[in-house]
Amino acid sequence: MIDKLGRSIDYMRISVTDRCDLRCTYCMPADGVAPLRHSEVLSFEEIVRIVKLASALGVKKVRLTGGEPLVRLGLPTLISQLKAIDGIEWVVLTTNGILLSENLPELVSAGVDGVNISIDAIDEDVFERVTRRSGVSKVLNSIDAALRYPQLKVKLNCVPMLANSSQILPMAERFLSDERLSLRFIELMPIGLGGEETGISEDALRAMLEEKFGEMTPLKHELLCGPCRYYKLEKLKGKVGFISAVSSCFCQSCNRVRLTSSGFLKTCLQFDRGVELRPLLNGTDEAILSAMKQAIWDKPEHHVFTEQGGSSLEQRIMSQIGG
Ligand code: GTP
Ligand code: 5AD
Ligand code: SF4
Repeated sequence: MIDKLGRSIDYMRISVTDRCDLRCTYCMPADGVAPLRHSEVLSFEEIVRIVKLASALGVKKVRLTGGEPLVRLGLPTLISQLKAIDGIEWVVLTTNGILLSENLPELVSAGVDGVNISIDAIDEDVFERVTRRSGVSKVLNSIDAALRYPQLKVKLNCVPMLANSSQILPMAERFLSDERLSLRFIELMPIGLGGEETGISEDALRAMLEEKFGEMTPLKHELLCGPCRYYKLEKLKGKVGFISAVSSCFCQSCNRVRLTSSGFLKTCLQFDRGVELRPLLNGTDEAILSAMKQAIWDKPEHHVFTEQGGSSLEQRIMSQIGG
């Protein structure tokens, strides 16, 4: 459907859990946060009902996020149910990769179309500093395992910060020696704990990458592939991408809404704007549809990352939103 600014909304990010098995410093406090009770989290049946209605409004792509989506049991079942919905063409996953390799066969059988794997370091010490947990070898295994399925689209996400600056070039060298991989640098966003870390600017990254790997040439934008801008580096095979929400606002072409694990339909990453669908789930499809339409129509125009706060700004942290 079209919002009041004429943007076509065809993509829904669904956080299936607020729980996570890592504690990335820019995302979660060291002690975690009190997770939702199981009874507060949408059931698969409720998620499927909402996605059926969203598909009637034009949503074609669903991305499952968390917390960490794979800590929720039975995810392949949800994926196959979502894939069976008329109009849903892609069901993809964003994961930290810790539990991915062991779950991949079932996820692929269920029909998952792609995985975005977050990895901020390949050195175990740096990985532990950023995630406050161990396990880089599991993530690396998961990346290798995902690449064994040619039908899967595999993208890597890295948030470049002072804390992992030593990892940028080694990660690019390692991952982009494979033409099937793309490594995307996500500019640190001042959401939740993001404001407490020091990010590295896109300009600084470009300079580092070009100095080592040669000139960067822009690549064509792919359909339904969101805010990332991709480039090819002269001496590497894979694609490097930049998602720079703060320094190059892409809100005018935003195509997405989010559903939190407790059932809030969130229409912009940075604002607490949208509608609580959960109380409506006892009622008719028409009532839910009408609430969704109203919320999407009123989607905020753009984020205000570079301005002072306001009352409608999001108080949830990233693990409760799903990125
Ligand atoms: P595709 O478009 O399906 O490739 O997904 P994606 O790249 O948007 O998904 P992913 O979950 O890998 O997200 C990568 C990063 O982009 C995360 O840090 C998200 O928070 C960020 N991101 C995704 N969508 C938006 C958005 O609408 N606004 C902002 N500011 N950031 C976004
Ligand atoms: N800024 C930028 N990216 C973030 N992510 C989580 N928190 C932030 C933040 N404050 C990223 C994760 C993951 C994706 C879903 O969101 O690293 O790759
Ligand atoms: Fe977990 Fe992802 Fe947040 Fe890291 S960024 S703590 S992996 S939800």
